[in-house]
Amino acid sequence: MVGLETKNIWVIANWKSNKTVQEALEWISVVGPKLERRENIRVVVCPTFNCLSEVKKAITVGNFPLIVGSQDLSPFEKGAYTGEDPASILKQFIEVAIVGHSERRKNFGETDELVVQKVKQAIDNQIIPLVCVQGKETPVPEGVKLVAYEPVFAIGTGNPDTPENASSVAEFLNQKYGEDTEILYGGSVNSNNVESFISKDNINGVLVGGASLDPEKFIKIIEVCTTL
Ligand code: PGA
Repeated sequence: MVGLETKNIWVIANWKSNKTVQEALEWISVVGPKLERRENIRVVVCPTFNCLSEVKKAITVGNFPLIVGSQDLSPFEKGAYTGEDPASILKQFIEVAIVGHSERRKNFGETDELVVQKVKQAIDNQIIPLVCVQGKETPVPEGVKLVAYEPVFAIGTGNPDTPENASSVAEFLNQKYGEDTEILYGGSVNSNNVESFISKDNINGVLVGGASLDPEKFIKIIEVCTTL
């Protein structure tokens, strides 16, 4: 059994289609100085593409223990793919890329095949792919070591899954894809319920949407993770 002090805990902010550059920088200036440097806690912020450069710069200048991620990436290399952000260019800003979020599957026709292509692009460019699965049936491409279980009914609804069910899905995913695959939970996570998820041995953190937009609410979530 891995203790909370030793297991990795990822706390990932998914801002979705929110925040201007100025709002993003304000958030960084509030959250950054409050973060403690801890070996096992990984705090990641995933802004819109247009904020990535400024956010990365602010984090570097402030020397904050914050990792930058993207919410998506192109399934192709660089070249004639209008409107897409390829991994080979994104890698100057990001270390993690969310792939296969249910909102992309639903609104942008993201298929399991596209997820495979995006994962390949990420890995080829030394970016960690964070693949979102909506349940046990969603396939996880080869090479993926970071997975978020995000049941659709729980996203943005204030109606999270139970920690017990999330943990049983995590157990299934670890059996299928290996014990070294880290499983996160996402869907209506807030500072009141985060402890119940990360105190499960096989849950390695949380992907936070709505509650990540307000810097104070997000700091509270991180505080719960660091004081456990
Ligand atoms: P939510 O979103 O925290 O607003 O439910 C989570 C997500 O979609 O990643």
